[in-house]
Amino acid sequence: MNAPAFDPVPVHHPVVRNLPPLIEVRGLDLWYGARQALHHVDLDLFPAEILAFIGPSGCGKTTMLKVLNRMHDEVRDLQLKGRVLMHGQDIYAPDVDPPLHRRRFGWVAQRPDPFPLSIYDNVAYGPSIHGLTANAAELADHVEKCLRRADLWDEVKDDLHRKTGLDLSLGQQQRLCIARALSNKPEVLLMDEPTGSIDPIATERVERLLLDLKADHAIVLITHSMAEARRIADRVAVFHMGWLVESGPAAVVFDRPATPEARAFLAGRTG
Ligand SMILES: Nc1ncnc2c1ncn2[C@@H]1O[C@H](COP(=O)(O)OP(=O)(O)OP(=O)(O)O)[C@@H](O)[C@H]1O
Ligand SMILES: [Mg+2]
Repeated sequence: MNAPAFDPVPVHHPVVRNLPPLIEVRGLDLWYGARQALHHVDLDLFPAEILAFIGPSGCGKTTMLKVLNRMHDEVRDLQLKGRVLMHGQDIYAPDVDPPLHRRRFGWVAQRPDPFPLSIYDNVAYGPSIHGLTANAAELADHVEKCLRRADLWDEVKDDLHRKTGLDLSLGQQQRLCIARALSNKPEVLLMDEPTGSIDPIATERVERLLLDLKADHAIVLITHSMAEARRIADRVAVFHMGWLVESGPAAVVFDRPATPEARAFLAGRTG
């Protein structure tokens, strides 16, 4: 017997913005083989904002994040329908070069995953292979800038070549991964539960860092911490069973959720 179809009516609370969205997702469906994991998602990402994806485990948050930077390109039997525009251009158009597209994004995972290389090389690796700097001095400058921007420079400046990324504390490793994510000069930061495996003090530093980084990046933050989303998100998108059921300013979604799914999730009845 088939399960009853889930057919929600999504609510998108209005947002007032002076700038057009950087990314527009329209009517996005995604299948892993025969199984549909995203249903008709409509989503905007604006410059200089933190947009939090929340919702129960398995509802499609990471899948949606990977659609944005085409990280799924190599996944077999994956099917996409709908449109994803960045600066008004279809990112799945045949003339888009996926590696080039991916470089417009920095990715930070839940578990810090520094390369087993020196602290310096963790940050220098991307810009060196992509030729983003003209010479060694410029590269060194860029590495310093990224480490400063990730709030890590003062702690590591004397150990850049002596220690590897793995010699740092978990919180420092996560800031190193953020420095590495910044090294390709991305427009968008995609963060999949970046504070999910670090302690509360390290979390507070990362949250402060994200608030600073949003001045010149659009940030999508997946989090299982409603307190974190309340503290730092400008807008929130609530996912449920592959549907984006509700989105809007964080204060509106948290204080006056309009859909039964968002209300149940925020009340702790699902997830
Ligand atoms: N590569 C894949 N192949 C097949 N199914 C997948 C793949 N990746 C994810 N899925 C399925 O798609 C659905 C959504 O998964 P996704 O990882 O996007 O959820 P999530 O909201 O990020 O969950 P969590 O909060 O646990 O990280 C799940 O049912 C998952 O099992
Ligand atoms: Mg996930």
